[in-house]
Amino acid sequence: MEYANLLLEKNDSVAILTVNRPKALNALNSDTLSELSSALDAVIQDSAIKAVVLTGSGGKAFVAGADISQMKDFNSLQGRRFAQLGHAVFRKIELMPQPVIAAINGFALGGGCELAMACDIRIAAENAKFGQPEVTLGLTAGFGGTQRLPRLVGTGIASELLFTGDIIDAQEAYRIGLVNKVYTSEALLEEALKLARRIADRAPAAVQLSKSAIQRGINLDLDSAQAYEAEVFGLTFSTQDQTEGCSAFLEKRKPVFEGR
Ligand code: HXC
Repeated sequence: MEYANLLLEKNDSVAILTVNRPKALNALNSDTLSELSSALDAVIQDSAIKAVVLTGSGGKAFVAGADISQMKDFNSLQGRRFAQLGHAVFRKIELMPQPVIAAINGFALGGGCELAMACDIRIAAENAKFGQPEVTLGLTAGFGGTQRLPRLVGTGIASELLFTGDIIDAQEAYRIGLVNKVYTSEALLEEALKLARRIADRAPAAVQLSKSAIQRGINLDLDSAQAYEAEVFGLTFSTQDQTEGCSAFLEKRKPVFEGR
């Protein structure tokens, strides 16, 4: 499928999704969000894809935010609908079976930072910049930033970033736990692919159920979340990969997972 503002490539069992509007620093307009939603559906339906890398094209930006030229003349209803569109697409990332790694190769501002935060894992290039500069535009964050940033880095640091609109660099993002690792720009994509392939080598159902337990559990109280974890753990015993994984350990050999 061809997209106007997105590239979807397959590299063995890993999909690479690239937001591709480099002239606008990959800013997210409604068309790009709709394409992202369709591309995610295509990935969800392709069980051969075991992990996804999400990045931005052009070498300067991951995503520099929601599209300011589209938003400028919104009324309240249009603003709310645009936020809801972003919420739905970003939630799809969290609830889809395959893990998604954000390879943040430049500006991740506003909606771009929010997109990265909806991914399961974030790694960054040393030139990456992060922030929620909406207040400098007279806006609030609206694609989940007021909710995911405090969950990821705590309310104190999140409040400072959301109230000032300050931009931070990759090292600071690493320090506050917003990204897992920082690489050179040249190494970032290859490192993201290596990580994705490592995940893709594991028992797929176990990885997908782990993601589900994290994503569902984080919004539940501990007892309900543990009940869900127990259910998920039990489900792994209905897979052949569980028998293979445990047998391989006891037989001192490498497991061969078949995704069943
Ligand atoms: C639309 C954008 C854009 C954006 C950049 N561009 N960011 N267009 N929406 N978010 C466009 C510029 O207008 C310009 O187009 C081209 O991309 C290159 O950008 P420059 O500004 O010339 O580049 P540079 O001087 O290097 O500055 C890079 C930058 C700056 C620091 C990232 O572009 C910037 O501050 N962008 C806006 C960042 C931001 O405020 N993001 C949050 C948006 S609000 P032309 O045509 O002039 O070449 C948001 C809300 C989310 O995300 C929630 C919604 C519900």
